[in-house]
Amino acid sequence: MKAEELRTKYIEFFVSNDHKEISGKSLIPENDPTVLFTTAGMHPLVPYILGEVHPAGKRLTNVQKCIRTGDIDDVGDATHLTFFEMLGNWSLGDYFKKEAINMSYNFLKDVIGIDINKLSVTVFQGDEDAPCDNESIGYWKDLGIPENRIYKLPKKDNWWGPAGQTGPCGPDTEMFVDTGKEKCSDSCIPGCGCGKYFEIWNNVFMQYDKQEDGTFKPLARPCVDTGMGVERTITMLQGKNSVYQTELFTPIIKKLEDLSGKKYGVDDSTDMSIRIICDHIRTSTFIIGDDKGVQPSNIGQGYILRRLLRRAIRHGKKLGLEGNFCSKPSEIIIEMYKNQYPELLERKDLIFSVLETEEEKFGLTLKKGEAEFEKLIPNLKKNPKMIIPGRVAFNLFDTYGFPLELTEELAQEEGMTVDRAGFDAAFEKHKELSKQGADKIFKGGLADDSEMSTKYHTATHLLHKALKIVLGEHVNQKGSNITSERLRFDFSHHDKMSDEEIKAVEDLVNKAIQDNLPVSMETMSVEEAKEKGAMALFSSKYGEQVKVYQMGDFSLEVCGGPHVERTGTLGVFRIKKEQSSAAGVRRIKAVLSDK
Ligand code: ALA
Repeated sequence: MKAEELRTKYIEFFVSNDHKEISGKSLIPENDPTVLFTTAGMHPLVPYILGEVHPAGKRLTNVQKCIRTGDIDDVGDATHLTFFEMLGNWSLGDYFKKEAINMSYNFLKDVIGIDINKLSVTVFQGDEDAPCDNESIGYWKDLGIPENRIYKLPKKDNWWGPAGQTGPCGPDTEMFVDTGKEKCSDSCIPGCGCGKYFEIWNNVFMQYDKQEDGTFKPLARPCVDTGMGVERTITMLQGKNSVYQTELFTPIIKKLEDLSGKKYGVDDSTDMSIRIICDHIRTSTFIIGDDKGVQPSNIGQGYILRRLLRRAIRHGKKLGLEGNFCSKPSEIIIEMYKNQYPELLERKDLIFSVLETEEEKFGLTLKKGEAEFEKLIPNLKKNPKMIIPGRVAFNLFDTYGFPLELTEELAQEEGMTVDRAGFDAAFEKHKELSKQGADKIFKGGLADDSEMSTKYHTATHLLHKALKIVLGEHVNQKGSNITSERLRFDFSHHDKMSDEEIKAVEDLVNKAIQDNLPVSMETMSVEEAKEKGAMALFSSKYGEQVKVYQMGDFSLEVCGGPHVERTGTLGVFRIKKEQSSAAGVRRIKAVLSDK
């Protein structure tokens, strides 16, 4: 059975059981700041599971696009996907365990023809939060599933949710089909990752609302939430070992084979690269092509997108793909899904142009780094141990933005290794030196001690902290120059900031100003400052006393001052310009005004 047929049959079955089909939602969750992407069909339904009335009724069904990134760097094996489609049916305070289990059983047996003798199920064994799910055990037995195919497992296996940090969750019962393969060991049971048991469906009995403090509050109205992975289920129905052998991936693989001249299924390393490109370009296409689509950036969803794309591009290089190639597999993906997800077709041009821009950007980074590496190689090879010093690798990273793993890869091709510990040490040392330099520049930079300059000085601290929050902890001050008209701030960061990032930084600074935070100063040893998590590079000697300025709970930074007494006097903060200052260093010019 193909994916399309499975989707149709699933929806038809539940509609015939009085469910209303509702549309799937965006991949970017609404009103859930605790998670970046929609991870399950129930995710957009959380408010209704918590008690709100759904306009379509109490029995719902749909197909939902989902993304689970976990650790991206682990994706690439034969089973994990970052993007997948989930079929689901829900009872919002309507039917509960018995009907849910019965409907699942009937669908598996009568609609998609699963041999029930091969069906095993797992249920929640109980713990201090909730009892053993004896009811589900009873309903499975009533349907003829023998006790030796009903497994009682702990929370880590048979409890689902919440989708983010808090919200609806509960015990679940999962359905597995035995592929007939040998058990990998005596302890091989459903849930074991060896491939003997194929998990196809999960029925969650939503009975609790997990609170921020970690406690479980009973839901006023228990609900059912189920999820069946389209890709997994068709893999099993088609008797394949891997999702990559199904019609959802073979055309993409074929395209990559044609483009690279390499064959899938011949050597592990090529297969891995092909799978990574398939998965990551598929997910990226859906992220960019979503109704609320985002573009690569250094925060949130955009950051995940950038990581997916850059990893795919790297593996494209490994396959020997020349130039920009991402649009090619993406085009096939759009074609494949255009009926189910018309937003992809509508945004086709945008998708291609975002892919290309990111490829160019990353390509430039790689090219410069590689050229530099080539130049260095003859000298480096003089080292009899064939080790590339950490500071050399660091220099490639710092000056050209060349990732350490790539230096390691290139080194490997030359029969060399990279001194990783040395790289880390060089990184630390660099941070110290740049701080010392920045301190000097800063002292010189404080043009006059007028009230305005003092304000800009305080604003600089707020900006520094806001940049760290928005762009990441890698942001460090590289230089500062203040006049009574403006501040100029240089900081370590590779990419041009997007409009959204600039806005997010401005908003954070203005919020800190509006909060009228008190500014206080304490003198302490450099060790104490470090302990307190103050921003600084601690170049001072052991035991040396430093001034630490604190602005409410927002910023803590080692600095000589002077500063205003409360942030509320600063006015309105605006970034006027964001530009490159040196390789890996960006420069911001910003002003304060009354309105
Ligand atoms: N929400 C449940 C899952 O994702 C059904 O497995």
